[in-house]
Amino acid sequence: MITARNLARTFTTRSGPVEAVRGVDIDVAEGEIVGLLGPNGAGKTTTLRMLTTLLGATGGEATVAGHDLRRDPRGVRSSIGYVAQGGASLDEAVVIEELVLQARLFGLSKTAALVNAEELVTTFGLRDLRQRACKQLSGGQRRRVDISLGLVHRPRLIFLDEPTTGLDPQSRTNLWEHIRKLRAGGVTIVLTTHYLDEADALCDRVLVMDQGTIVAEGSPDELKQRITGDIVTIELAGTEHVDLHDEHTLHDDTFDEGAQPGRPKLHSRTDDVVQVARAAVDVRSTLVEHHRIHVTVDRGDQSIIPLLRALDAAGINIAAITMKRPSLDDVFLTVTGRSLSDAEQDVAPAAA
Ligand SMILES: Nc1ncnc2c1ncn2[C@@H]1O[C@H](COP(=O)(O)OP(=O)(O)OP(=O)(O)O)[C@@H](O)[C@H]1O
Ligand SMILES: [Mg+2]
Repeated sequence: MITARNLARTFTTRSGPVEAVRGVDIDVAEGEIVGLLGPNGAGKTTTLRMLTTLLGATGGEATVAGHDLRRDPRGVRSSIGYVAQGGASLDEAVVIEELVLQARLFGLSKTAALVNAEELVTTFGLRDLRQRACKQLSGGQRRRVDISLGLVHRPRLIFLDEPTTGLDPQSRTNLWEHIRKLRAGGVTIVLTTHYLDEADALCDRVLVMDQGTIVAEGSPDELKQRITGDIVTIELAGTEHVDLHDEHTLHDDTFDEGAQPGRPKLHSRTDDVVQVARAAVDVRSTLVEHHRIHVTVDRGDQSIIPLLRALDAAGINIAAITMKRPSLDDVFLTVTGRSLSDAEQDVAPAAA
């Protein structure tokens, strides 16, 4: 549905050039939900605006829905739907009339426009609101009108710029359901988001964007596995401490911090765990934190049992063993060196 190569956009401003998008390659297959995930200013909207012909590229090329972006922008426009970050519905417009009008603008007959508009108000739960003016709707209801406006000419490819920003959790999950239904009906969807949970729950594939480039790409699960791996945490049992320390240090949480004289034994205990773990399973990295040992492995589910057996055989008493699957934030942290929430904060003052 989309092939973009080295697509770039530099804006000229009074304070000099702004490289909003620095040459991205994007491939989207038919029937996918692909998410552009990234902090404020990453270049998500600029990318969408280029792919929808609303903004000229300053570099690179793309084919969208079978049409060349530069040579056949009309062809692209007639095959796609676009829902802007701020929405497109007018305050005074009546829901059903706005939908019919939009369909007519795309060249549909009166009958076809009505049929599509009626179908959409049903699909998006707007039936009872169809005679309301857009300004009389809640944020979530209005967002559904915006999305319906992008769909009324039945495009096979739709671009949604931050479809759920500002919605309450229930409206968000509701909208996710609608978006999944669209895909089930064969529509290809490209959306932008800075919500990690949204990218995780909704997208078949995620393109992680930062500072105008794509820094990682894959299904949410693939990204987490490939980039960070699972973390198995082994917590040494209290009895280990009893064996190793005199009584008054028992409740001292800081007792095992570093090489305090006279207390090297716990250290050797955690070192033992690291050694046993490395021998038992394929370990990517380890991190010792107090009496906890974090072991990063490719597949946590397949590592826990061999780990437990090996620790038991080595006579190491453990209090708990837990597994944490990495989050998309861990992925972002690994590829950019900062977490997505920090990245948002970095950008905020500059944007103001
Ligand atoms: N018309 C413009 N002129 C100059 N710079 C621009 C223009 N539009 C966008 N930019 C800059 O390009 C960069 C990318 O902006 P863009 O809107 O694509 O980010 P975004 O990823 O959509 O962010 P957000 O999550 O805040 O919507 C930003 O640094 C922005 O300030
Ligand atoms: Mg944006």
